[in-house]
Amino acid sequence: MCGIVGYLGKKSATPILLSGLKRLEYRGYDSAGICVLENGALKTFKKEGPIKMLAAELDKQSLNSQIGIAHTRWATHGQPNETNAHPHYDCQHKIAVVHNGIIENFEGLKILLAKEGHKIVSETDSEVIAHLIEKFYHGDLEQAVLEAVKLLEGTFGLAVISESEKKLVAARRGSPLILGIGPDEIFIASDASAIIEYTNQVVYLEDNEIATISEQGYEVKSLDGHNANNQVTEIKWTIDEIEKSGFEHFMLKEIFEQPKTIANALRGRIKDGKIKLSVNFDAKKIDKIIITACGTSWHSALIGKYLLEKIAGMPTEVDYASEFRYRHPIVRDNNLLIVISQSGETADTLAALRETKNCQTLGIINSVGSTIAREVKSGIYLHAGPEIGVASTKAFTSQVASLILLALYIKEQISGELDQALSDELLIIPEKIQTILDQAENIKAISQNFVSAKNLLYLGRGINFPVALEGALKLKEVSYIHAEGYPAAEMKHGPIALIDKNMFVVFIVNHGPIFEKIVSNMQEVRARGGRIIAITDVKDAAVEKLSEFIITVPSVSEELSPLVNIIPLQLMSYYVASANGINVDKPRNLAKSVTVE
Ligand code: F6R
Repeated sequence: MCGIVGYLGKKSATPILLSGLKRLEYRGYDSAGICVLENGALKTFKKEGPIKMLAAELDKQSLNSQIGIAHTRWATHGQPNETNAHPHYDCQHKIAVVHNGIIENFEGLKILLAKEGHKIVSETDSEVIAHLIEKFYHGDLEQAVLEAVKLLEGTFGLAVISESEKKLVAARRGSPLILGIGPDEIFIASDASAIIEYTNQVVYLEDNEIATISEQGYEVKSLDGHNANNQVTEIKWTIDEIEKSGFEHFMLKEIFEQPKTIANALRGRIKDGKIKLSVNFDAKKIDKIIITACGTSWHSALIGKYLLEKIAGMPTEVDYASEFRYRHPIVRDNNLLIVISQSGETADTLAALRETKNCQTLGIINSVGSTIAREVKSGIYLHAGPEIGVASTKAFTSQVASLILLALYIKEQISGELDQALSDELLIIPEKIQTILDQAENIKAISQNFVSAKNLLYLGRGINFPVALEGALKLKEVSYIHAEGYPAAEMKHGPIALIDKNMFVVFIVNHGPIFEKIVSNMQEVRARGGRIIAITDVKDAAVEKLSEFIITVPSVSEELSPLVNIIPLQLMSYYVASANGINVDKPRNLAKSVTVE
């Protein structure tokens, strides 16, 4: 959600800032801006629209500066336009600021600053920061930022530049920021993908920390002025992992990566007849699990509930993080709180984690070194590599694979026995997924039939009800077609009113004890003229008769079935959206990593 890049070094800053912005564009793409210090003056360029608009403007300039800051915006306060785009200035245009997060008390600060004669020109919550720094600036930028942030309520990741000093100042509270450390250069970024091209050595800023960067190096302090001792860490992934590798979109690349990413999630974790996880809770002492997450990660949490209860016999509750944090949840010392997050930076999930101090906490996280990953007591990394497509795909399947491992681990800890059959089957799931990906052309052809649909229903039962929710979410996110997921049997309690000859209904219909019941639900849809797309592992005459389109998936145990059933749904969403000419990697209004409430 919004992206920040900063640079101070010996090279020309503009191309570095621009390439960083391009890498961060998946986080916000409604406007962008850059500010460099050249010949003692700040020069700023801003453009509404994607980064390429800003790039075209910068092509016309001949900038030669070695220091600057830049931002790509996902609008929260005020329309996406040039005035609201970052960087924002103080009155004298001597201080420029880029900001991620939300300043909750900005209205009050605006009034205060206006009374003191400051002229605020944008509708944003961010501009007040530049004016506050101006108010406190007496020749020391770091000190002025320290004074200014004392007055801010809400969240911020900031990068600040001033005309008067060859320095950058970065500060963070609730919105991620890192420093990238090169031999003769230092970067600021809200996400490592912006700078991985230049360095894999990073320093994570913690909440309530400030970093000052100059030609002499960098210094990190707490916002109350004490020196901090943040270590330099090495990022393990490479630039290739954030390139499209010949695929038209990141989303498609990431869907196709899933056999590999699931294998990575499992690697070394089922070994010598045991599940190996570096978690530090005693499963025998846990009496209840609470899982909290948002969006797609919440869907994997729902699957997790099913797995933990069925495999490990562990009572499990699932909550939206945004609800959990405000509803005074009862969390006892013997509970285990699991937070699931691809980015490890989602504001609501982080806040839910911080609400809960008394019990063991476990993170299921993709982004290594992210805030949630650092704040949980123990964790399981997905090892899926950076997920760039805004719609989450490979992270979802790796989350589900990790939850299966966790359920197997808890069962083993409690009973002393590994479920050998299920863990063996889990290890070959990547091959099964490959067989579905091999049918991509067929799935694409089927998808062409509903590119103009207005509504779809997704129905599944049991462990595949959350898969129906996830399938519907994927479609609406990237294609803007309205879609709802329901437990199949719930359909007759209301949604059935929607069924007519224009309604496409996706059924997840797998072998097992409720197969016949789902077939009955299919009959109910057909009887009302609904058009059925079946995702099935069964060759069955009734399913064939009732369905207009059938996508066959490999037959696996029920516990593993979400991993196969979701693949055609992801592909369908992708093909429908791209047939409609939508840039699936940057669907409207969305941003990767929701770091605001
Ligand atoms: C959906 C999607 C979002 C995220 C949600 C949580 O495709 O990407 O719904 O799943 O914003 O994000 P993380 O997992 O980063 O906490």
